[in-house]
Amino acid sequence: MTLSTADIRQKFFDYFKQHGHQSVASSSLVPADDPTLLFTNAGMNQFKDVFLGTEKRSYTRAVSSQRCVRAGGKHNDLENVGYTARHHTFFEMMGNFSFGDYFKKEAIEFAWNFLTKELGLAKDKLLVTVFHNDDEAFDIWENHIGVPKEKIIRIDTADNFWSMGDTGPCGPCSEIFYDHGEHIWGGPPGTPEEDGDRFIEIWNLVFMQYNKQEDGTMEPLPKPSIDTGMGLERISAIMQDVHSNYEIDLFERLIKATAEVVGTTDLENKSLRVIADHIRSCSFLICDGVMPGNEGRGYVLRRIIRRAVRHGYKLGAQDIFFYKLVAALTKEMGEAYPELADQQPVIEKVLRVEEEQFSKTLSRGMAMLNDVLKELDGDTVAGDVVFKLYDTYGFPADLTGDVAREHGYKIDEEGFEQAMQEQRQRAQKASNFGMNYNEQLRVEHATSFTGYTDVEGQANVLELIKDNAFTDTLKDGEEGVVVLDSTPFYAEAGGQSGDAGLLQVAGGEFVVTDTQKMGNAFAHYGKAVGNIKKGDKATAKIDRENREAIKKNHSATHLLHAALREVLGEHVTQKGSLVEAQRMRFDFSHFEAISSDQIALLERRVNEEVRANHALATELMDLDEAKASGAMALFGEKYDEKVRVVTMGPFSVELCGGTHVAHTGEIGLFKIVSESGIASGVRRIEAVTGEAAIEVIQQQQATINQAAGLLKTDASNVLQRLSALQTQTKELEKALGAAKQKLASQQGADMLGQAQEINGVKVLVTQLDGVEPKALRGMVDDLKNRIGEGVVVLGVAGEKKASLIVGVTKQLTAKVKAGELVNYIAGQVGGKGGGRPDMAQAGGDQPENLGSALDSVTSWLSDKL
Ligand code: ALA
Repeated sequence: MTLSTADIRQKFFDYFKQHGHQSVASSSLVPADDPTLLFTNAGMNQFKDVFLGTEKRSYTRAVSSQRCVRAGGKHNDLENVGYTARHHTFFEMMGNFSFGDYFKKEAIEFAWNFLTKELGLAKDKLLVTVFHNDDEAFDIWENHIGVPKEKIIRIDTADNFWSMGDTGPCGPCSEIFYDHGEHIWGGPPGTPEEDGDRFIEIWNLVFMQYNKQEDGTMEPLPKPSIDTGMGLERISAIMQDVHSNYEIDLFERLIKATAEVVGTTDLENKSLRVIADHIRSCSFLICDGVMPGNEGRGYVLRRIIRRAVRHGYKLGAQDIFFYKLVAALTKEMGEAYPELADQQPVIEKVLRVEEEQFSKTLSRGMAMLNDVLKELDGDTVAGDVVFKLYDTYGFPADLTGDVAREHGYKIDEEGFEQAMQEQRQRAQKASNFGMNYNEQLRVEHATSFTGYTDVEGQANVLELIKDNAFTDTLKDGEEGVVVLDSTPFYAEAGGQSGDAGLLQVAGGEFVVTDTQKMGNAFAHYGKAVGNIKKGDKATAKIDRENREAIKKNHSATHLLHAALREVLGEHVTQKGSLVEAQRMRFDFSHFEAISSDQIALLERRVNEEVRANHALATELMDLDEAKASGAMALFGEKYDEKVRVVTMGPFSVELCGGTHVAHTGEIGLFKIVSESGIASGVRRIEAVTGEAAIEVIQQQQATINQAAGLLKTDASNVLQRLSALQTQTKELEKALGAAKQKLASQQGADMLGQAQEINGVKVLVTQLDGVEPKALRGMVDDLKNRIGEGVVVLGVAGEKKASLIVGVTKQLTAKVKAGELVNYIAGQVGGKGGGRPDMAQAGGDQPENLGSALDSVTSWLSDKL
């Protein structure tokens, strides 16, 4: 019977569990607390600190199947997807780990037995590599396992020395290869034909021994350890007797689903593979909280989505399609990764929005690129073209590269880089991720935290830091950092800001304004008043009022989180939070603005739970146990094996290391002050509690009272008064308009008396200062109606401009054109005008000349009439 991908995963777990390994869930694709890494790229990432010896667990053997993304970082396979049988942006890495427990011999034995006994692979199909000088591993393979000498290959390149990143745990490795048979071209590792597809690496056994430093030096690890990785897709291909990973059961179904949604029947088309690969990385990245964006992780995600969309377009997709594949993926992988199923609606929405946005420019960009390719001189698309495609049509450079490559061309990457200097700076920030990581001072001590129960405690000053260097004394007035062996000060974590307070020593005080973690130590930031010396005994007192306010806000954050899920739906997950003394901020996934009714409901629900006065319980539990109890855990957050679970009645259960009120009633009052969108699919609520909430409400009340005072009424009648005032204003405006009109026509009547006659035609030329230029039109119409046959010329001299209007009655327009006349006058006041033969207007910037200009009208008209 052929083993399915799921069967193989299960067998792997069963085998290693039988051999004393603790089963550990895959960690998030966003590495927790590890700025040296863009995405989780190997099973060992979540155990990095355990290898380094800075974190202890209750077990020394572990087994996992880790979701990995290799795109955009040190290990980057994005460009290879679709072109080879085995590259993926997303894959699952099964691995067994030893933390100072077993080493080379057992690791080799476990791997060999699993492959040959559990999976039943033929021994003669396997060959192995070792690092060139690793005689020990060579000997184990030859004499202990019995692999013939000629099938143990020594490799002296980085291929057999594995490291997680530029820094971190690393060591020599031994890889196991599978021979797919003579009918496939390729040679064993280390030969010139090694890039062929015949010999395929299936399992990498890393003998972890060093911690690589920034400067390249290798520090030995506390204990030699084991890290192994076997790609689930590769081993599945072998077990299912297919040659390409893309032919295994899981991909076969995903590819079929893809073909259906894009509307193609050509199942061999490589673009289907690209899309089937990309839906996995994109869905899991979004599931783990990454949102498409223009920098760092978000930009890598955006690039993968756009690449998938472009391939769909190439296959003839007529409509937005990519998001439709999430359902098919959930069917394949939702059981092994329940978080994927939970997040399905969010993932679909994010993909949909992103695809809609890109599809607007995709076809125009493709048309431009195709034109460029048709007329290309040479084999390289110029950097400025690549930039234009990027800048105007949102084509990531690798997407343009992908298209060019399909036509046998390449892109001028250097030129592109040059053309986008600014964007390069941003991108650099992303690839230099955590540049400052090792520049930080290393504090070797660990501080114990007493602040869950205590607000004050005795401690010893272990280190002092000034200007980023260790020092023995902080003198009066100097700013610096104090590290204690134990402290009630909470160091900023999980969104909760660090405590402020006071450290008292024999020679003075240290005013703490913030507390941060530095490795395992707590760093108190602040300023010395008097002198502090290394070795001093200190009394550490937190600012209690400040902490009380923080506690209220933190507990309220949990209540809000639960209320949001109740009111808006289970798709709401926390995307970030900030808990300070003055306020709290909570970011979460949701796709539309929250209505004022929903805000009111949220406030009501949280305040109900406040009044329920739940006693707050905290409990240390195993991570799995905690998740099983329904505790809300955050993706991308790193949790220890033992986690702290904070419960508020039946309403809220969350994993959290923060400080909280003892009873929810202490929160007093919860008030939302703002709601806004901060990124696509992410909303932010800001709120206040306790005293601050009262203040906000009082302030709002004061504003209403002031308004009432101005309106000469009381608060309860403000709205009524305002609406009455609005009506009144409208009526007044109407009445005023009518009065003005009336006045104007009266003026008009008076004015008519001033009209003169030129050759039997009535001519009225008048300057009306203080009249709104806008009112002139109405006046001229009116005067024309009453004058019988004639010409009306009105002018207004304002402060800086002159306005003119000329009206000519219909029959006269054969002789006098209003436009001509108005231009004749306007010319004398520095302007010009235009209009119909019977009515024309003009303006000019020399109002001082208006009088003489109007005087000249009579003689001009005398010539015409
Ligand atoms: N960490 C090793 C790898 O990724 C097992 O190949």
